[in-house]
Amino acid sequence: MKNPYVPYPVRITEIITETEDRNLKTFKLEFLNPEDEGKFAYMPGQFAELSIAGKGEIPIGIASAPTEKGYLVFTVNKVGLVTSHLHNMKPGEIMGVRGPLGNSYPWDRMEGKNVVIIAGGFAFTTLRSSIVYMLEPRNREKFKDITVVYGARTPGMLLYKDTLAAWEQRDDINMHITVDATNDPTWKYNVGFVPAITEQKAPSAENALALVCGPPIMIKFTQPVLSKLGFTPEQIIMSLENRMKCGIGICGRCNIGTEFVCKDGPVFTLEQLNRLPKEY
Ligand SMILES: Cc1cc2nc3c(=O)[nH]c(=O)nc-3n(C[C@H](O)[C@H](O)[C@H](O)COP(=O)(O)OP(=O)(O)OC[C@H]3O[C@@H](n4cnc5c(N)ncnc54)[C@H](O)[C@@H]3O)c2cc1C
Ligand code: FES
Repeated sequence: MKNPYVPYPVRITEIITETEDRNLKTFKLEFLNPEDEGKFAYMPGQFAELSIAGKGEIPIGIASAPTEKGYLVFTVNKVGLVTSHLHNMKPGEIMGVRGPLGNSYPWDRMEGKNVVIIAGGFAFTTLRSSIVYMLEPRNREKFKDITVVYGARTPGMLLYKDTLAAWEQRDDINMHITVDATNDPTWKYNVGFVPAITEQKAPSAENALALVCGPPIMIKFTQPVLSKLGFTPEQIIMSLENRMKCGIGICGRCNIGTEFVCKDGPVFTLEQLNRLPKEY
């Protein structure tokens, strides 16, 4: 049996600076040993531990979709020690990926449903994975309407701008991109906070599940909007980002009450979270 602490070696093949403040970069990684790709079978919503030898290991949501073969994608915000080292790395360098870890979004429950995706800032990563997965031609018919409300502070802070523009052109996904503010006269999408745009676009709660990821302030103001639209706590699905170490339910670093966020989560329904101590 493979030692769960040993990462797969990967090579950085591409680095994209996503945002105008240059603090968010997307890393495209390829397995050094092609057979490792088959062992790293994942679903959208899961995360991995990215490691840099001698620097450390960090949990990061998987931004690529399992339908994208041959590589993994992670988008990393530069906040501290390991993320800063990662931001200084160059294509061709070798690092480690351990996982996939945690649960995924509830894909069995989502089949046959309208899916509403609500995201703010760089928490969009595993939702990008989810959208790419659902739009794959052989998967699209499993889901009904897909509605996306995605917001950032300014146009320059949006992730995956080319991908967003391509999704805007499609008629099998309802895109509502928004920014808090802009003085860009060429901006052609919404201006307003994510909760306000969600209320305005009013996605129906009927036969729907909402995946909500973003900064705490966005989540705080989005929850009452979704309740007003008729979404019950069982229909609201969120992903937590607690501090972690082992990522496999052993060290006890990430517990909330009886739940290990790394193993039982990071994806929980609001109904599950309402039953836990408010430590997240
Ligand atoms: C399941 C999961 C998925 C994640 N997905 C992503 C992702 O897709 N992209 C991304 O950029 N980040 C993601 N994070 C957060 C990421 O793990 C942390 O930002 C990272 O570990 C910081 O490492 P560091 O060594 O650079 O920071 P450190 O030097 O350890 O700390 C620097 C600062 O970051 C804060 N910090 C450290 N860890 C966390 C954390 N887990 N949550 C919030 N603040 C933290 C510290 O309090 C400190 O203020 C995720 C976290 C989890 C648990
Ligand atoms: S991070 Fe070790 S138990 Fe969750």
